[in-house]
Amino acid sequence: MFAIFGGSGLTNLATLSITRREVVRTPYGEPSGPLTFGTLAGVEAVFMPRHGYGHTIPPHLINYRANLWALRAAGVEGVLAVTSVGGIRDAYGPGVLVVPDQIIDYTHGRAHTFFEGPESTIGTPVSHIDFTWPYAEHLRRRILAAAARAGEMVHAGGVYGATQGPRLESAAEIRRMERDGCDLVGMTGMPEAALARELGLDYACLSVVVNHAAGKGDSAQAITLDHLAQVMDGAMARVHRILEAFVAP
Ligand code: HPA
Repeated sequence: MFAIFGGSGLTNLATLSITRREVVRTPYGEPSGPLTFGTLAGVEAVFMPRHGYGHTIPPHLINYRANLWALRAAGVEGVLAVTSVGGIRDAYGPGVLVVPDQIIDYTHGRAHTFFEGPESTIGTPVSHIDFTWPYAEHLRRRILAAAARAGEMVHAGGVYGATQGPRLESAAEIRRMERDGCDLVGMTGMPEAALARELGLDYACLSVVVNHAAGKGDSAQAITLDHLAQVMDGAMARVHRILEAFVAP
């Protein structure tokens, strides 16, 4: 069974036929909400909106550890994380879907590891996870194959820059991120990906570009949020098609 993390624009997975909801208690506190189990295109799946079902939890206050711990407890075989992002380079304009292959982490002050002392609660000793390739390659390929089957164009690769938020970035911060090699900017990609790796959960991401990043394209002067919602709504229908193809064997 696969898990789907919903981001902004995906607080409800309308295409999931719900069978049950489960409140999971974790050693790390409350997840963003109960896990929603159901079937997607006839296949069992579990859904969790990382901002909460009412989209009330900002990126820096999401309990990433509890969310991932809950999914592992549910016995999922992998996690597909949907995120909405700003596009930095020209090829990543609004409406583009991307399966990133790298991450740069600019977040701070978030609970970013399960390894906090000799008493590790996740059943493995303290270790330094390998993060050379932060996403599970076989899941990335599965998303790309699903998109091809669904007839949806998706960018195969990109560097996801994870910022702290909740404010958007300054134009200079985006220029710096571009010099660093970032293609995309979002607020939730980390520590989620690293925590999944610590738990031994395969994890990959499908990003939806909903705006040009600050200072770029039509965001040269400001980022307007109403336009952003429109792009998101348009793209979500495509995301749903990809998700259905993804879970189908
Ligand atoms: N910056 C950070 N996070 C985002 C953006 C952005 O421009 N758009 C959507 N999520």
